Amino acid sequence: MSHETLIRNFIGYFGGSADGIRIFKAPGRVNLIGEHTDYNGGYVFPAALTLASTVLARPRQDNKIRLIATDLEVMVEAELEKLQNYKGLRWGNYQLGVADELIKSGYRVIGCDLMFDDKVPLGSGLSSSAAIEIATAVALVSLGDEAYGKTKKIDMIEMALISQRAEHNYVGVKCGIMDQFASAMGKKDHAIFLKCSDLSYELVPVKLDGYSLVISNTNKKRSLGEGKYNERRAQCEQGLEMLKKAFPEATCLADISRAEYEAHKHLLTDDVIRKRVEHVIYENQRVIDSVKALKEGNLKLFGELLNQSHNSLRDLYEVTGPELDTLVEEARKQEGVLGSRMTGAGFGGCTVSLVENSKIDNFIDSVGKAYREKIGYDASFYISEIGDGGREVEVEL
Ligand code: GLA
Repeated sequence: MSHETLIRNFIGYFGGSADGIRIFKAPGRVNLIGEHTDYNGGYVFPAALTLASTVLARPRQDNKIRLIATDLEVMVEAELEKLQNYKGLRWGNYQLGVADELIKSGYRVIGCDLMFDDKVPLGSGLSSSAAIEIATAVALVSLGDEAYGKTKKIDMIEMALISQRAEHNYVGVKCGIMDQFASAMGKKDHAIFLKCSDLSYELVPVKLDGYSLVISNTNKKRSLGEGKYNERRAQCEQGLEMLKKAFPEATCLADISRAEYEAHKHLLTDDVIRKRVEHVIYENQRVIDSVKALKEGNLKLFGELLNQSHNSLRDLYEVTGPELDTLVEEARKQEGVLGSRMTGAGFGGCTVSLVENSKIDNFIDSVGKAYREKIGYDASFYISEIGDGGREVEVEL
């Protein structure tokens, strides 16, 4: 939607004029490789997308936050003093969770009207929630700073950490930092090689010479609130406890190398726990190898690592399922495909495939047809464009 239309909608919902309306944006992300490593202190390699959440924001004179979305008919109204009361909301809890955590961190949040236009497909593994959180964080801090005459630049890493805490404490998903970090810190045409234990990172240009990253959406909705995600995280924590007999200093699974794991895996007496840990330790190394391969222009190796990552998420971490597996299997059969894997948490959502540009139409056609035959409904496809992280955008009229 154009800014003009968005502003017209905003005035339709909230009244007043265009005066004082500011526009903020934060993207979804695609993770190239490094899945379920973030909450284990490991490496990830995500890139921000151009698909984003846009929020129009305007201060109010009282202490209320009102929320609306262009694709929803409900308006949520919340009082800043009572933010604990709205945790059960079906829509609006990400935004109010962020407001709550900002206040707890000492930010001055003011009453405001916010209208969301969310273009990251919901529940698709492309971090629609992080996009909403980071857009909210940047909007609320910018409005508060303006009201109190503060001009300091917003600390975007802090915005990512605050948004992650909102997800933990308000929404109840014990997510890692990857999604919020990517949405906050993304850069056009770059992926972020991030070490999650200390948040050191490097922006790596994504040069794919004749190839593109094609995102395929299973259109199977999933919600991480269902518990499987937190269960995986708990299993990793149990695995770390078992391995601590050999590595008392280890603070996370990523502190343990492949060789160390192989020499001590007998300590993992539960077979399920052993599989989870093995995935994390090998996946972590695959991220390092992928970044190197990409820097050297070795797309073939990069593609093989994508394939290994999916197989491990399917067989060891067990977070794929028939929809994701079908998309990946069909993708790998196509000419011009170097690799394909699920991206994000799993349990539905999207895959990412490295496809030769001249073969993309054929890829979408053939994979789409096979998916419909096997699964019974349509997949959707997007060519990823890597965009910038969360920011204010100039109002264009
Ligand atoms: C979700 C979480 C992330 C990360 C991925 C899996 O997207 O929000 O923190 O754990 O799953 O890699």
